Amino acid sequence: MSKKIFSGVQPSGNLHLGNYLGAIKNFVELQSKKDTDCVYCIVDLHAITVKQNPKELRKNIRETLAAFIASGLDSKKSIIFNQSSVPAHSEAAWILSCVARMGWLNRMTQFKEKAGKDKEKASIGLYAYPVLMAADILLYDTSHVPVGDDQKQHLELSRDIAQRFNNDFDTKNFLKVPEPLIQKNFSRIMSLKDGTKKMSKSDPSDLSRINLMDDKDQIINKIKKAKTDTLPMPSEEENLKNRPEVKNLLEIFSSLSNQSIEKTKNEFSGKNFSIFKENLSELLVEKIAPISYEIKALLNDEKYLNEILLEGSKKANELASKKIKEMKKIIGFCE
Ligand code: TYM
Repeated sequence: MSKKIFSGVQPSGNLHLGNYLGAIKNFVELQSKKDTDCVYCIVDLHAITVKQNPKELRKNIRETLAAFIASGLDSKKSIIFNQSSVPAHSEAAWILSCVARMGWLNRMTQFKEKAGKDKEKASIGLYAYPVLMAADILLYDTSHVPVGDDQKQHLELSRDIAQRFNNDFDTKNFLKVPEPLIQKNFSRIMSLKDGTKKMSKSDPSDLSRINLMDDKDQIINKIKKAKTDTLPMPSEEENLKNRPEVKNLLEIFSSLSNQSIEKTKNEFSGKNFSIFKENLSELLVEKIAPISYEIKALLNDEKYLNEILLEGSKKANELASKKIKEMKKIIGFCE
């Protein structure tokens, strides 16, 4: 049976190495697999759960698309579109928010983190965000969802919502229960300044992350300034436990070079850390600088980018409007 892949990325600016290694790199690999249909979405409806400047949002949607294409996504192989251009996402989100339970949403740790201390001031959209994510996934009969580790809890919620809908309306497998596709080793890339914190676009320090738009000099500078310690590279994996920054840099190197952490560690074990950093910089420049260059080139061709979105939205609309129609029938809205 064919695999159906769906995933999404928020157009909130500053796409970074975590997004690339945790998600986009996998999107690219999946689109070339046999019997695999891929749908990749720029989730602009998710972005407005926090305040956005309309001009910036418009720019960020194109920037995210450019990052997809520059990383190797191909609109001939994958459906690529922005969420707000397919109305079924909003419709399904409402229906599913009547299926999801408050208790389930109250457990979502990302809401707690994002809302911070003043939950009363958070938008209702920020709270209901995982329900919209479930709508995204379930509209396309998705079998697998490639994401970074931070989205695991939201995916579990999508599974619960699908099962609850199927039970409530006695429609056995109408909503397909999706499986997460989370890589074992490189699913959580950490900040370059604090190895216990996730690399994130909202970190106020730009030195904490490698952005996909960074150029060669910025990459070299950030790796030079990345936090480490005075010890050499350890020879045992055990010794990495209390060195989260070192572990993170090793993981970044291994993921970029498609090799095991063990192999990377052996390559540099006992050597001075500066040698490893030099090699990591070179590797990052080799892999990320061309993406950065290509994103900037693509942003000059807005017509091309708009065409991709238009074509992708048409295809996504065809699939999603069929599913929402069936959903409405099941609920009793129409014959
Ligand atoms: P978003 O936009 O925050 O992140 C996009 C993808 O990047 C991954 N990611 C990371 N992976 C490893 N290390 C990191 N430091 C790191 N930071 C981000 C995320 O796990 C994600 O895969 N809610 C989602 C978007 C979404 C979605 C969906 C995803 C909306 N609908 C349906 C899958 C299916 C989000 O905010 O991702």
